[in-house]
Amino acid sequence: MKSTPWWKEAVIYQIYPRSFCDSNGDGDGDLAGITSRLEYVQKLGVDAIWLSPFYTTPNKDGGYDVANPRDVDPRFGNLEDAKLLINHAHELNLRVIADIVPNHFSDQHAWFQAALKADRGSPERNRFHFYDAKPDGTPPNNWISLFGGPSWTQVEDGQYYLHLFDSSQPDLNWENSEVNVDFETTLRFWLDLGVDGFRIDVAHGLVKEDIQENHPDPAGLSEALRLDVEMETSKRNALLESVPYFDRQGVHEIYRTWRRLFDSYGNRDVMAVAEAWVHPPINATLYVRPDELHQVFNFDLLTAPFDGAYLFDVINRSIQLNAMVNALPTWALSNHDSPRVASRIGDSESRALALFVFALPGSAYVFAGQELGLPDGELRDSDRVDPSFIRTNGAIKGRDGARVPLPWSGSHPPFGFTTGKPWLPMSQSWKSLTVESEMDNSKSTLAMYRSALELRALHLTGTGDISWLESPLHGSMRSDLLIFKRGSITVVMNLSIKAQEIELQGVPLIISSGELTNLDGTTLMPALSCMWCLN
Ligand code: NOJ
Repeated sequence: MKSTPWWKEAVIYQIYPRSFCDSNGDGDGDLAGITSRLEYVQKLGVDAIWLSPFYTTPNKDGGYDVANPRDVDPRFGNLEDAKLLINHAHELNLRVIADIVPNHFSDQHAWFQAALKADRGSPERNRFHFYDAKPDGTPPNNWISLFGGPSWTQVEDGQYYLHLFDSSQPDLNWENSEVNVDFETTLRFWLDLGVDGFRIDVAHGLVKEDIQENHPDPAGLSEALRLDVEMETSKRNALLESVPYFDRQGVHEIYRTWRRLFDSYGNRDVMAVAEAWVHPPINATLYVRPDELHQVFNFDLLTAPFDGAYLFDVINRSIQLNAMVNALPTWALSNHDSPRVASRIGDSESRALALFVFALPGSAYVFAGQELGLPDGELRDSDRVDPSFIRTNGAIKGRDGARVPLPWSGSHPPFGFTTGKPWLPMSQSWKSLTVESEMDNSKSTLAMYRSALELRALHLTGTGDISWLESPLHGSMRSDLLIFKRGSITVVMNLSIKAQEIELQGVPLIISSGELTNLDGTTLMPALSCMWCLN
């Protein structure tokens, strides 16, 4: 019998290489820096690391603008450093997931440079989406870039090329078979170097339809795609379903081909996780059908309010939808594209939610720094480099706040991250949030994460479904208390701003995100907290 594959319920630690640890004092994190900190990552109790891109890049979009996907950018080191990192991770029993960016290349990639020099209609241009201008000279359609502004840029001979993101990120034409051949070469390149899986960037965007047609509401659509813009849910959903460049049927054929490639690596158990922002939610499950990818990110918790009824719904929905295709959900509270969870919902709330989520079936993603309870960095506009900030003239603040480097040690910035000047400024107020100071504090967020992951491995992994005991749909319809059982553990989350009396009836408490108190023989569970008890 085949044992459960490693990724099914893995805890995966996301490292944004530029912000993790700098080994050479240039102010940018690098691969050697990551390697030097892998013992720390292992002791955290995670199963794998996911590395955001470290490939050759002009770095217009934090490395998601790839100029050579089969080499390392000198900022991050070289291929030898990548090998050392992968090998050391494996020695520590950590798997390595690399990021692959198939929707676009950087405009500095050799293919795009060749396309610029080639004629309209040439094979070089056919690898991208080059189109003639409309008779009045305007772009082929009215699509708007996800970073703001038009999604078309004109080249010298008058043709336009499509870029769903920055103008330095031309979209690839997946109808051209050369594109997939090249990506398969890249997948094999990294697999042969030892990586264990891939995170697929914009996995839902590769196939475009109706390129020469206008979208009826491009401005509405670009707002609907932004997490920071409030919009009535039904309006947002309708707009998201209308996107002509996301979630087209053709993408699934690409992943079926890739799955065969992954499976050809046999007992290596290669996995891939899709970044697919799709609508309606059931569409996400199509990416994890048995002959496609292994996981798809569920982004619900990146935006969810700390509200019992809301959490109950999105958690149930994700579990049920994944079950339809025999997959398990994924959970993520933070990543490099969204505000850090501690800033978004609050410190106590984010600790409680993390503990709650670690007890759920499926795989949990932790964005480096989340385990320290790190908030977003405080930045001045002059510090910001995110293309969405630049392209909107500052109307969108962008994602730099979540990308401020990690504080490791000491009492002043740059807190051991670098010996030089960090690429984004770090706040003096992070003194109590360094790895060093949290390591010595049994009440720190880091201490809670370490214990939780140890207990998860011991009591929860592989124990199957959850059963709700008290929830918005059960008993008294309370949405300020969520309780479920899974395996030998009962998980209780108090979402109210008041402490709640609870009866532990002799059941041992094994971990809590807040401190329980005893008042006249009554146990009080603190406000905004979560705990696990043994049944
Ligand atoms: C999603 C990545 O997570 C984000 O950082 C990037 O800007 C876009 N895709 C474009 O590659």
